[in-house]
Amino acid sequence: MTNKTENRNMGSWINLLSLSIPVKALFTGYILAVGIGLMMAGAQVMLTHGISIDDIVYSYYGNRSGSKLEAKLNGSMKDKATAEENLKIIKWIANGSDEHTWTKTISPIVEAKCSTCHANIATLPNITQYEVIKELTEIDMGINVTSLTRISHIHIFGIAFIFFFVGFIFSFAIGFSHWLKALLIFTPFAFLLIDVSAWWLTRLDPAFAWMVIIGGFGYSLASTIMLSTSLYQMWIMPWRGKSSNVNAWFD
Ligand code: HEC
Repeated sequence: MTNKTENRNMGSWINLLSLSIPVKALFTGYILAVGIGLMMAGAQVMLTHGISIDDIVYSYYGNRSGSKLEAKLNGSMKDKATAEENLKIIKWIANGSDEHTWTKTISPIVEAKCSTCHANIATLPNITQYEVIKELTEIDMGINVTSLTRISHIHIFGIAFIFFFVGFIFSFAIGFSHWLKALLIFTPFAFLLIDVSAWWLTRLDPAFAWMVIIGGFGYSLASTIMLSTSLYQMWIMPWRGKSSNVNAWFD
């Protein structure tokens, strides 16, 4: 085996094992930050709603069987008013939620049974106002195109930027065939596009919601493999006395 200096002079030693400590420090800092970011993203999904197909369908496709107000009156807001009052509100929605009936019949119920929270807690919609409650009586068609376009491009730019550096660091790894390495580096980008396409498809048809989960799971898995391999080759392998004169970029 040629020694390190000779390899350097030949310009053929570039791999994760033989990088200088400052470069390893740079790569490691980045890997730790991204790794923690990925875990936080996973934790957020678990804590807020778990990975459920229903939630994904709800976010992108909406709930086209009825309005949000009606869904809440049959759900978490069911016991705020009497069954009879709930029925009055639901009938009002079914009849087109007109302003006349609102003023005469519905507004008094909302004032008596809902306003303590909905007119006073800033994070809740103030349903004592006709314009506000009217919006909640409309069928929920899911995310609108403007919002979806915005989150799509922010997501693609942001995530692609992360994957670029994850793949860049991993490109210095040794011991993978060219094709396997290329596949691992390309996989997150492919899943990113699957993920975002799935948002758009789910908006049209709830049957595509599973694609959103597969997309997110796929790029997390490929990133995890690359991040942990990179750490292993930078620190554990040299620590165990392994060295390499492979040029991971040109061999
Ligand atoms: C004790 C406080 C309280 C009362 C009283 C109350 N709500 Fe709510 N409401 C909440 C909270 C908290 C949420 C958010 C959590 C949720 O969606 O279950 C909410 C959410 C809602 C939402 C969904 C709003 C959105 O944009 O997501 C609707 C619709 C709603 N309430 C309708 C009503 C109606 C109608 C009444 C009266 C019959 C009522 N609420 C009474 C506390 C209250």
